[in-house]
Amino acid sequence: MTASGEIIAGVLAPHPPHLIYAENPPQNEPRAECGWEGLRWGYKRLRRNLARREKPDVIIVHSPHWKTTMGTHFLGVEHFAGLSVDPIFPNLFRFHYDLNIDVALSRAICSEASEAGLVTKMMTNPNFRVDYGTIIACHLVRPEWDIPIVAISSNRAYYDFSNEVGEAQMLALGAATARAVERSGKKAWLLASNSLSHRHFTKEPTLPEDMSHEHTYHHGQYLWDMQVLELMEQGRTQELLDIMPDFIEQSISECKEGSLTWLLGALGIPSYPAEIHAYGSVIGTGNAVVEWDPVLAGGAA
Ligand SMILES: [Fe+2]
Repeated sequence: MTASGEIIAGVLAPHPPHLIYAENPPQNEPRAECGWEGLRWGYKRLRRNLARREKPDVIIVHSPHWKTTMGTHFLGVEHFAGLSVDPIFPNLFRFHYDLNIDVALSRAICSEASEAGLVTKMMTNPNFRVDYGTIIACHLVRPEWDIPIVAISSNRAYYDFSNEVGEAQMLALGAATARAVERSGKKAWLLASNSLSHRHFTKEPTLPEDMSHEHTYHHGQYLWDMQVLELMEQGRTQELLDIMPDFIEQSISECKEGSLTWLLGALGIPSYPAEIHAYGSVIGTGNAVVEWDPVLAGGAA
């Protein structure tokens, strides 16, 4: 391909297994009555929005639950199938996955990131078990599983060094992702598979989908999430990045895995408004479904 590729949508696509459980897709073994409708309807609105635009060639997802100790890894095998079980909620998520990888683009992003000075590696074990953060975000955004994916791991930079080091690496990884997409000639959706505030309850109700038990963990967490979402909605992304290290610390945010900052870096630190499709609690954590449409960067919509 010689045409210039582009990112045609960026999505904050959180991955609580509860949402898959409540959706009852055929791939998941447990069955639910209902639950977490606000977030699930938000995903539905997102899917409707995305369906109005052109279909992408690839979905690129950065997941908090593929944790790699040394550097950033990329799935490097054409096809994976197996059973993914959430280690915390095996009662909610036992999902039979069957997915295809765009290995050429994975390699291209891996090389770009490596040239930018990041530690990278292709993961070529055909028996690798794909993590639930990747699977859930992809399923909720595109349940048809008809688009190949690129899956990117989260490394330990935030933990082994500092939030600031992690942030710098993720912005560099995002920029490398954008360059590789452009050179590939492909149209891509990018998914950051993480929650916002992440304090959660440690006891589950007898009936997991009993919504009389669901609420935000703490008002301070809620205030942080609202601050972050307001900045997204107003296109004040650089200000969001400026407060990200404090947000991560004070709300125990899952942004500490780097997915959201990778996405913002790939989108060029957008100054156009994001669309918030939903916000809701899952076992007390704050989750938002948020969409960036890069067309808005040119003022065309
Ligand atoms: Fe998670």
